[in-house]
Amino acid sequence: MNATGLARGPKHFLDLDAFDGATLRHLIDDARRMKQARAGRPKGAPDDETPLTGRMLAMIFEKPSTRTRISFEMGMRQLGGQTMFLDGRDMQFGHGETVGDTARVLSRYVDAIMLRTKRHQSLVELAKTASVPVINGLTDKTHPCQLMADILTFEEHRGPIKGRVVTWSGAGNNVCASWIHAAVKFGFELRVAAPPELEPDAQVLGWAKAQGGKVNVVRDPYDAASGSDAIVTDTWVQMSESDQLGEGGARSRHNLLMRYQVNDKLLDAAGRNAIFMHCLPAHRGEEVTDSVLDGPQSVVFDEAENRLHTQKSVLLWALK
Ligand code: CP
Ligand code: NVA
Repeated sequence: MNATGLARGPKHFLDLDAFDGATLRHLIDDARRMKQARAGRPKGAPDDETPLTGRMLAMIFEKPSTRTRISFEMGMRQLGGQTMFLDGRDMQFGHGETVGDTARVLSRYVDAIMLRTKRHQSLVELAKTASVPVINGLTDKTHPCQLMADILTFEEHRGPIKGRVVTWSGAGNNVCASWIHAAVKFGFELRVAAPPELEPDAQVLGWAKAQGGKVNVVRDPYDAASGSDAIVTDTWVQMSESDQLGEGGARSRHNLLMRYQVNDKLLDAAGRNAIFMHCLPAHRGEEVTDSVLDGPQSVVFDEAENRLHTQKSVLLWALK
């Protein structure tokens, strides 16, 4: 069974809700093992085993990226494979031809496709037609690769995440949706502190409820933070929203979310043992203060590093 629920066909990595918990656990453990195995080695050196030799990953980006692009590039190289960077604006993706036709063509050239898109539907269409694995490198709805890195990071710092409490404080956005999927699949409690205007996707919340997940939306970030093992936030405006919102929209978003800012006071409410997490890029002084981001409880650069290790386990799962 692949992660799109089909008995046959390529192994797509689209969203965490399509996976069983055991597969996701295996991917995290595999990433940890690979990370430990290459500790201290030059970053460009290949792994001891290079099972993706001769394999090519095409990466289509409709939005900017630092971490996702570079961690996939380095991950493929360490595993013996290669990558091809494709700027969505320079190709016919989603405008000169159908997404399905692009999927058919790329499937003749490359072994796997990673897509970062403004429209989740493009990811779905790509996966429906491609005959090679498709990996979600962020859409306007979700960011599952980020969550794989975040689970590994949490567990490196605080041990097994099952049964623990995580608070999200801010807009209920794409990264938040993947945190909700992860809460159900890895068995932890997620408190989402968000204003009513920016609650997480109702469908994702409904899915979590139907699965018996412990996911609650609250208004007061201080109530949520108390007793939490981690506080997480993300930018107030998504990359795909900035054009539509304009300056006025961004200002009103700012006003709505200011009380959800992760600052020293909010982190104090969680306590000294709570870690601070953020997928980056961060807008310092908006969703998080410098003192928290650069403080002793912050694990944000471990999260960034772990994108590399968890993406390698995703690539191996999809391509082997
Ligand atoms: N966290 C993340 O996906 O970062 P980039 O946008 O830099 O890829
Ligand atoms: N929520 C952010 C995450 C960036 C990695 C965005 O979509 O812009």
